[in-house]
Amino acid sequence: MTLKLIKNLTIVGAGKMGKALISGWLSNGLSREELTIIGRDIEESSILINTFKIKLTSSEEKNIKSDILVLAVKPQVMPDVLKKISPIIDSNTIIISIAAGITMDFMRSHVGNENRIIRAMPNTPAAIGKGMTVLFSDKELNNGEKGFVTDLMSSIGKVSWIKKENIMNLVTAISGSGPAYFFHLTECLINIAKSEGLDKELAEKLSMETFIGAASLAEKYKTMSIEEHRINVTSPGGTTEAALNELMSQNALQDLMYKAVKSAVARGNALSGK
Ligand SMILES: NC(=O)c1ccc[n+]([C@@H]2O[C@H](COP(=O)([O-])OP(=O)(O)OC[C@H]3O[C@@H](n4cnc5c(N)ncnc54)[C@H](OP(=O)(O)O)[C@@H]3O)[C@@H](O)[C@H]2O)c1
Repeated sequence: MTLKLIKNLTIVGAGKMGKALISGWLSNGLSREELTIIGRDIEESSILINTFKIKLTSSEEKNIKSDILVLAVKPQVMPDVLKKISPIIDSNTIIISIAAGITMDFMRSHVGNENRIIRAMPNTPAAIGKGMTVLFSDKELNNGEKGFVTDLMSSIGKVSWIKKENIMNLVTAISGSGPAYFFHLTECLINIAKSEGLDKELAEKLSMETFIGAASLAEKYKTMSIEEHRINVTSPGGTTEAALNELMSQNALQDLMYKAVKSAVARGNALSGK
């Protein structure tokens, strides 16, 4: 998948997720000439300019032509950003918002009814083409529009469209925030290995390589379920079984993960004003 045929794309906000998207798109053939980045503090953005070799623009700039506008700012600043960028939106601009919890109704109240608006929930592995993005639109997109948005987000990983907006906060809690859960599990292993006597370097190497190896194995043998992968490591009466008995008895880890996901959903609901 390459993005050589893309139209003008403007992205507002180049923080963690904005940078991940930009890196993914550029390495998949999006031309620098077609890309505009709107940053908040232009003076301080030399790192961005050096990293991406792209001119940075201010949201006060009125002459930007944008067929696709990607909003990658924090939900809290979205009202201000939508006000500032209104001069560069016309009725043909396709708007993609990746902000957690920002609803279609909220977007429509600022943008109006004509535009195609897409809520997207990507995640940070997008930076290396391994992202997972969930997409929702409140209007029927024509094949060209839907294909175009699908191609754009597929260039940074896998894509799923959903039909109901009300599952977006759950989706966010699973795949949007999800990478952090796996990182934290690895952090826990590192800390335990160190506290039980391994040196830092070995603790990090063992935990990291295990995290990467397990994910790669699951990716390579997708026909096997995750449960089968787990069972493959677990000899009856062995060491893994002893550990899993702790994690799985009375659903210990699952219950904790349930609480974590529910907290993320609740935060999404709060951001959505629910
Ligand atoms: N991080 C994730 O894994 C993830 C996953 C899925 C979705 N998201 C969503 O992605 C959005 C961005 O998250 P993030 O983690 O990338 O946050 P972030 O690192 O804080 O990035 C937000 C960026 O927007 C900039 N910004 C703020 N006000 C602006 C304005 N008026 N005009 C232009 N740029 C402005 C910020 O600049 P300053 O630093 O100068 O304020 C910052 O560079 C959020 O809505 C989040 O819900 C994030």
